[in-house]
Amino acid sequence: MPRKPLSFSIKNSESTRRLSLGHVALIVVMGVCYVVNQGGGGYDLTYLVARRTSITTAVTSDAAASCPPLKPLPPIKGRNEIALFLQEMNFTHGIEIGVQRGNFAAHNLGTWTACQNYKLVDLWAQQNLETYKDVANVNNQQHENFYQETQNRLSPWKHKTEYYRMMSVDAAKYTAKQEMQVDFVYVDARHDYCGCKEDIENYWPLIKPGGILAGHDFMHNDEVRPQDWSICSDGSIHPEAVKGAVMEFANKHGLPLHLTYREPKWNSWWMQKPLC
Ligand SMILES: *[C@@H]1O[C@H](CO)[C@@H](O)[C@H](O)[C@H]1NC(C)=O
Repeated sequence: MPRKPLSFSIKNSESTRRLSLGHVALIVVMGVCYVVNQGGGGYDLTYLVARRTSITTAVTSDAAASCPPLKPLPPIKGRNEIALFLQEMNFTHGIEIGVQRGNFAAHNLGTWTACQNYKLVDLWAQQNLETYKDVANVNNQQHENFYQETQNRLSPWKHKTEYYRMMSVDAAKYTAKQEMQVDFVYVDARHDYCGCKEDIENYWPLIKPGGILAGHDFMHNDEVRPQDWSICSDGSIHPEAVKGAVMEFANKHGLPLHLTYREPKWNSWWMQKPLC
């Protein structure tokens, strides 16, 4: 039986050069089916296209079925319970952004003994006083003292800790370049809406599926006076602050958002990255 004109025209027409990979795959499928159907006297193009479509659909639904649901996160009273959860999950890698004196890091490292690598990201330097009106924005001498104090406090875990004394955005870029992913990120750096949003968006891709993104100070500016967290570094005003940035991200990605329920004041928030 002679080859059908279709293969001839593909080999010789102008359109050959414009064929995409998808077309090539289709032709291969058609080629296989053609051989199968040859005894029956040639192929039916409609049938082949339909067959290919059903194969594609089957692959897609298989992928969806293989994404297991996550176990719901447990309710937690305070941020100090997060480390217990990380330990229970056998997680091994974490990043804390906004370290200050290293008290929270010390608690985490002491509790989360399965941790193998804990990155500490902080500029430990004063930032613009006009746009960053935060009690944490102390002078440079004080920041230097905090940095030394942190290193002393965390010295028992020296082999596990890594210091990134730089802007959080730069530390995220550096980590991304090394193609490293972590199980846990805790955001406690800039408290303005833009800064918090930027940290969340930059660090989310660095978290493994099933890992945890959490942070401090789930608050609107009205709740933190006399501090002022409403001013972004570009001078724009966003009184929704950390609370706004976190809620917006959770809504955008359809992620359940969890808050600590019995802190003396500064509530933490946390959410889990879906498995796929
Ligand atoms: C963590 O590791 C322990 C010991 O290997 C194991 O029994 C447990 O099931 C693990 N937990 C999770 C959540 O994988």
